[in-house]
Amino acid sequence: MKVLLFNGSPRENGCTNAALKIIADELERDGIKSKIICVGKENISGVGATSDASQNFVQKIAAEIKKYDGFVFGSPVYYASPNGTFISFLDRLFACCNDFAQKPAACIVSCRRGGAASSLEVLEKYPQFYSMPMISSNYWNMIHGNTPEEILKDEEGVQTMQVLGRNMAWILKCIECGKNNKILPPRIPQKIKTNYIK
Ligand SMILES: Cc1cc2nc3c(=O)[nH]c(=O)nc-3n(C[C@H](O)[C@H](O)[C@H](O)COP(=O)(O)O)c2cc1C
Repeated sequence: MKVLLFNGSPRENGCTNAALKIIADELERDGIKSKIICVGKENISGVGATSDASQNFVQKIAAEIKKYDGFVFGSPVYYASPNGTFISFLDRLFACCNDFAQKPAACIVSCRRGGAASSLEVLEKYPQFYSMPMISSNYWNMIHGNTPEEILKDEEGVQTMQVLGRNMAWILKCIECGKNNKILPPRIPQKIKTNYIK
């Protein structure tokens, strides 16, 4: 079993990465492999804009999704919202990839002080749309600081990430155990899109 963790920050070794590493360490302790990829530093244009470079980058990652069993989407908070580039990335990724459904996901944010809850709400919209079981912790999935060193001093935030990692490992093992005992995810029906018009 393997988890892919997305760093939505342009700072590859910043606070979001430090938070993701805490989760990755917990997963490893529970025997689950993981990989962190930094996508926030890429120049990704909005999903409506024609950009072969953006789309090629996203499609390369989309092709890898089937190899993973769980996902963590992490972003810094910018003006009480996730990094705009990361939103563009997620818009493009979820629009072109069919391999996320029914795999567990967690969203996390890193911020200095405020806007964590509104940013989490934005990120959580993606997995919620694709029947992905959401992994929670013993607090909302946020950590506070401006530098990785400060992040590690946020004792409550660190614990939040650790508990999240353990919960992700537990759910992954439950899903695996279910598969081995013929408890399979329900069939996904053909999507009904009504635009509220009958
Ligand atoms: C343009 C910009 C806007 C920011 N807006 C907020 C904000 O609204 N609330 C907040 O608490 N921190 C804000 N921050 C601080 C970052 O969210 C915080 O330092 C975060 O931990 C950085 O994560 P990173 O090192 O992974 O990029 C902002 C930082 C930048 C560069």
